[in-house]
Amino acid sequence: MRAAQVTKFGDPSVLVTTDLPDPVPAPGEVLIDVAYADTIFVETQVRAGWGGEFFPVEPPYVPGGGVAGVVSALGPGVAPSWLGRRVTSFVTGSYAERAVAPLTAVTPVPDDLDLLSAAALVHDGVTATGLMELTAVTETDRVLILGASGGMGTLLVQLAHARGARVVGVARGAAKLALVRDLGADATADATAPDWPNRARHALGGPAGAADAVLDGVGGELGAMAFPLTADGGRFSAHGAPSGGFAALDPTEAKRRDITLFGIGDVQYSPTDLNRLTASALAEAAAGRLRAVVGEVFPLERAAGAHEAVEGRQLLGKVLLEL
Ligand SMILES: NC(=O)c1ccc[n+]([C@@H]2O[C@H](COP(=O)([O-])OP(=O)(O)OC[C@H]3O[C@@H](n4cnc5c(N)ncnc54)[C@H](OP(=O)(O)O)[C@@H]3O)[C@@H](O)[C@H]2O)c1
Repeated sequence: MRAAQVTKFGDPSVLVTTDLPDPVPAPGEVLIDVAYADTIFVETQVRAGWGGEFFPVEPPYVPGGGVAGVVSALGPGVAPSWLGRRVTSFVTGSYAERAVAPLTAVTPVPDDLDLLSAAALVHDGVTATGLMELTAVTETDRVLILGASGGMGTLLVQLAHARGARVVGVARGAAKLALVRDLGADATADATAPDWPNRARHALGGPAGAADAVLDGVGGELGAMAFPLTADGGRFSAHGAPSGGFAALDPTEAKRRDITLFGIGDVQYSPTDLNRLTASALAEAAAGRLRAVVGEVFPLERAAGAHEAVEGRQLLGKVLLEL
């Protein structure tokens, strides 16, 4: 099968397509003919050599994890009814034409949902749905979302809006801000404006101009600047680090202001929760209540271009690979 490998740590050009043996499903596993694989920001960081303490991979390796495709072969013990079903899964090395997954890690795709949208939701839909549960967003909340135009941010905006919250999205540039408003944000702030925190305060409204929940998908300086915008007694999730690091927050100050801090460790899920959250995101999309925004789809041979696009930050929403 064709696969894209990271041949050494470095810039996107280290992603090279090659032929690898087809994987064979073991007992309890299925073989998936991959239609689309998602890309997520952290894959570009790991490819560049970042985060070895969290992601201990050594080149050459096939990156990626999220796939949507069709079950094409069954391992021993798997019911024949799975053959030909459209599914999503988390696999090890998804930038490849075929992947194996244990049945416990496979979620059926609803009939009304296309595989492209399903692939876009594998990671981001799960984490966005999980973040809604974690931060328990309700209709009385004011929610500030950083990285609102990204793969996960676009879903967070819609999910928080659907819960009836007042949503303020932070992103960069007019096109991204227009998308965020279109997805249901009540207001936006442009991260390139030096006074964006004041604008966000104004947009959040209320007596303190503060957010009951901050969902930080960017981290670094931007995340740190958002911390003072959190209401006393509020919640702050520092799950994002595309800026190069998670937001450094002062736990003492958080405690003094009764702010609950969440981090990347709070959005790691058991197989049972992964299945539940995936099924929820796919069902919302199939029902037309959640739109996966796809910026561009690259063929596998252009996996390097896909990483360039993610790093280039020009596209709206999600970058996917077509196998
Ligand atoms: N996807 C998941 O399931 C998942 C799970 C756990 C954690 N996370 C983390 O959540 C974060 C967002 O994920 P995502 O999949 O939504 O990523 P994404 O689609 O690449 O979006 C990231 C957004 O961050 C903004 N950004 C601000 N500063 C940036 C910088 N220096 N470099 C690159 N982007 C920058 C960009 O928006 P502007 O250009 O508008 O600034 C971009 O739209 C990542 O750190 C990821 O590791 C994701």
